[in-house]
Amino acid sequence: RKVGILISGRGSNMSALIDAAEDADFPAEIALVLSNRADAGGLKVAEDAGLATAVVDHKAYADRASFDAAVDARLREAGVEIVCLAGFMRLLTPPFVEAWRNRMINIHPSLLPLFPGLHTHERAIEAGMRLAGCTVHFVRAEMDSGPIIAQAAVPIAFDDTPETLAKRVLSAEHEIYPLALALVAGDLVWVEGERIAYASEL
Ligand code: GRF
Repeated sequence: RKVGILISGRGSNMSALIDAAEDADFPAEIALVLSNRADAGGLKVAEDAGLATAVVDHKAYADRASFDAAVDARLREAGVEIVCLAGFMRLLTPPFVEAWRNRMINIHPSLLPLFPGLHTHERAIEAGMRLAGCTVHFVRAEMDSGPIIAQAAVPIAFDDTPETLAKRVLSAEHEIYPLALALVAGDLVWVEGERIAYASEL
């Protein structure tokens, strides 16, 4: 299955997906890495890995709908079947989300449905949580919502700062994102009635 990865920044989750896809047994290949920012560090990493890359600069478009249409066109040109959001910092419009319904997944640095949105680590520490984590989910129009494919939990240490916690969570992100993509691309999980259904071999 052909995968498109959307990034806005350093792309460490993208790198984890690229590394996993290098394995001949992995059920997906990375057909395109697309960034809305020309200065995203991940673009160079993708180029160095020999992958096709594209920049669709949101500032060049009058509104979200025309930006999303341009992203959609690039994905389709590249034959993308599954979209992975990996630190992609633009909200996508409902028509785009619908067009990729159950074929677009996202990674979020919290144990959803707790702490959607930004500053998740700061908020988890502030709430006195002793566990934090990350979630890979199918994307719905409402931000950081949708059927959950995989999660990992990590402890919050008493002396954690948002930065030290972010590091621990990020390592877990790099574990579960390739796993979740393998489940989706390998048709081992899918959505039925807004819940995850899974193949009998799981
Ligand atoms: C990750 O924490 C991801 O969960 C969040 O944004 C961050 C992106 O990091 N959505 P990277 O660009 O993958 O390194």
